[in-house]
Amino acid sequence: MKILDQAILEELLAGHPWGGQLYCLAKIDSTNDWAKKLADSGAPEGTVILADRQTSGRGQKERSFHSPGGVGLYISFILRPAALPSELMHFTPMTGVAVCNAVEAVCGLRPRLKWPNDLILGGKKLGGILTELSFDGQQVSYLIVGIGININHAPSDFPAELSSIATSLAMETGIQYSRHQLAAELIREMKRVSDGMFSEKAAYLACYQKDCLNIGADMLIHRGEHPPVPVHCFGIDENGALLVTHRDGAVEQLIAGEVSIQHKTI
Ligand code: BTN
Repeated sequence: MKILDQAILEELLAGHPWGGQLYCLAKIDSTNDWAKKLADSGAPEGTVILADRQTSGRGQKERSFHSPGGVGLYISFILRPAALPSELMHFTPMTGVAVCNAVEAVCGLRPRLKWPNDLILGGKKLGGILTELSFDGQQVSYLIVGIGININHAPSDFPAELSSIATSLAMETGIQYSRHQLAAELIREMKRVSDGMFSEKAAYLACYQKDCLNIGADMLIHRGEHPPVPVHCFGIDENGALLVTHRDGAVEQLIAGEVSIQHKTI
């Protein structure tokens, strides 16, 4: 098992503007938390933090993200877009497309996306995206995007409670992949996202529409203690929000929340 090596990554990224702003750590609580500390002390756009292992990897809704050493990619980016938070709703969908592009470029197979932030392969969770914002008045002062991908995990690398719902690239294909190559490709992809955050929004959302498993599916919306609400998802809007129809025909735009896919009709 090879530990993540900063020198190898820097060589793969030679000449890339973000190649000299990498922090490759052996072990950290959470790369997102470390990124926030760096951002608070002024780290520039394009600072990248990777860890071989996380001891308190975090997911959405205060869930943990299982992050064993030697097998996964746990990476966070500091971005500093000049924008209001409401102008960045499409950012996580764009990142999802970037992750799919990177996995496809290195591994030759394209994961799917389950709204809002899960990477799916073979019907199981391959990873996820955690985007966090910090504000300066009304404006965004920085954005941290953390991405976790299960790459070379064997079934025994997952705890019992994840064994039926999580997978890795190696488990789906029988092939071990280079974490360095995938990290380098993802860094290149995230630079493209950063450069095209507004100018390429429509093109990325068109890709997202194809990659997103929810579109064309019957789903349940889960809202706290309330009974799940059945809806049909028929598309996304110009910001990446899900468009759903309720049983009574009412249309709703979902900008956040938790959904489960019941049945896909197309
Ligand atoms: C989710 O599945 O809800 C999102 C998972 C995000 C995990 C990544 S791993 C790198 C970064 N650091 C964290 O603590 N979380 C994200």
